[in-house]
Amino acid sequence: MCGIIGYAGSDPDTTENVLLDGLSSLEYRGYDSAGIAVANGMLDVYKRSGELSVLESTLDGKTVTGPVGIGHTRWSTHGPPTDENAHPHTGCSDRVAVVHNGIISNDESLKSTLTDAGHTFESDTDTETVPHLIERFLDRGYSPAESFRHAIKRLDGSYAIAAIFHDSDEIYATRRQSPLVVGLGADATYLASDVPAFIEHTDRVIYLEDRQVARLTPTDVVITDDDGERVDPAVDVVDWDPEDAGKSGYDHYMLKEIYEQPQAIRQSTRGRILELDGSVTLPDLPESIVEETDRVQFVACGSSYYATQYGAALLRERGIPTQTFVASDYDVERIPLESGTLVVGVTQSGETADTLGALRDANRAGATTLAVTNVVASSAARECDATVYIRAGPEISVAATKSFASQQATVAILASVLDGRRPNPFLGGLRDLPSDIQRVLDTSNAREIAAEIVDADAYFFIGRGYQWPVALEGALKMKEITYAHAEGFPAGELKHGPLALVTERTPVVALVTGSNEVVEKTVGNVREVESRGAPVVVVTDSPEDVAHLADFVLEVPETNPALVPVVTNVQLQLLAYWTAYELDRPIDKPRNLAKSVTVE
Ligand code: F6R
Repeated sequence: MCGIIGYAGSDPDTTENVLLDGLSSLEYRGYDSAGIAVANGMLDVYKRSGELSVLESTLDGKTVTGPVGIGHTRWSTHGPPTDENAHPHTGCSDRVAVVHNGIISNDESLKSTLTDAGHTFESDTDTETVPHLIERFLDRGYSPAESFRHAIKRLDGSYAIAAIFHDSDEIYATRRQSPLVVGLGADATYLASDVPAFIEHTDRVIYLEDRQVARLTPTDVVITDDDGERVDPAVDVVDWDPEDAGKSGYDHYMLKEIYEQPQAIRQSTRGRILELDGSVTLPDLPESIVEETDRVQFVACGSSYYATQYGAALLRERGIPTQTFVASDYDVERIPLESGTLVVGVTQSGETADTLGALRDANRAGATTLAVTNVVASSAARECDATVYIRAGPEISVAATKSFASQQATVAILASVLDGRRPNPFLGGLRDLPSDIQRVLDTSNAREIAAEIVDADAYFFIGRGYQWPVALEGALKMKEITYAHAEGFPAGELKHGPLALVTERTPVVALVTGSNEVVEKTVGNVREVESRGAPVVVVTDSPEDVAHLADFVLEVPETNPALVPVVTNVQLQLLAYWTAYELDRPIDKPRNLAKSVTVE
């Protein structure tokens, strides 16, 4: 969703650069338009539709200086990506500039009240109501702080908002179900939707709570509630290396993050594999929750949903009744919540509105909730009864890669912990995952295969059992970054309809691993497509048995059959990446998408 940056510093000449650098780290959150506003007795506002580079070329040669500024990169919800709809927005008198992430749901009624009071609007956005509302209170003689607080109390919806005033060196900001983090530097303070935006300047942060108001100046940050009562916030130190947030020489964040997976899995499993007593553990999951859990409901979206399908298969195999729900449908399905149900929200960002909505429904219904997330102090982490972090490290690419692998490893550990068996059958497999993935990264021929199949009409992915969710994830990755039609199926379903689509121009990627019986059946499905002339790409840990059936083979090392889907998925990530690379797609910023989807 949209990205917000704010800077209050002692050197007015650095403001523009800090804002633009911050926006470039946040572009993964939206890239329809970008803008900045700097206060220096007046408000200098520059905003353009298109990627950040368009704004940068507009600013080229202009001097924008001032002690405070805010910036925004947009993923459109209200109104198309035009210059007018880009943020920051100002009111009628250019005294206040506002950036906003999220949705203001009562914008229509606010607009009509403000219009009746003589305000005129220039954009189609819900955001523009905020500076007008603030102006109304300024006109009545309230201070900037009071005007900001009075205005936000009139807003419904979920949002993060930052405002600056023409004649002040303060930034005011607040949040409601949308992330905002404050950075405390030596001679400056920062505000952003996500830590990478200012990590090169400071690692000391305050995660703003819902409805708190932050006032930032170059030397100080004061946090209050929305009535102006001071609160004493916790200051955290984040353990991110600024290098983590850069591309480290890779062409794209996506490729960098694919190659970071051995390390991501090491981090996910650290302290969770107890070699000596042959068990796995999740120290952050209270023992009482483990004891009281009889059944599990997973809620998640997109790739995270496929990770839950994989986790559910592992849990069911262990005799724990488990259901998975696409989070946006959880309230529609109204599944009864029996006692002993643990509702697990799996969400990389911890901010996905659909997943948060489902978790809130579960909380209201009295269920115990667990967040499985990557982002410390995210909304999911704060709102659930317990949190298990996947510890993948910052993921910038819009297409999820290392977070998916870390989710798979974490739900595998969760399945083992709830199962409680010793010695745990996953132990060796989990320990070897980083080196197994490294072998795939070192030896993959996905780039050569991508060059052969790039010109296809569509791509189909098939797999059975644990590999079915990976087939779905492989297809999602392919469609997301190549824009080609791609679909995943349970291998056995192909003959019940989708086979009609198979031609010599539709490569079929078959995941062939597992027991002899599973391999045998999947091989049968491969023969069905092969005889229709489709190019076949087989991903397998037993190439000697299946290579003769395939046009191309992507090999993975043998490992525990339940964990091999973590490794096969890496080959599918590489296949999608190199196919998109051949097509010269904007891999890190696929059209119409954003990393963290904070609207329902
Ligand atoms: C696909 C992708 C999305 C996310 C989905 C949920 O590559 O990244 O499908 O998985 O939007 O996001 P989180 O995990 O942040 O809840």
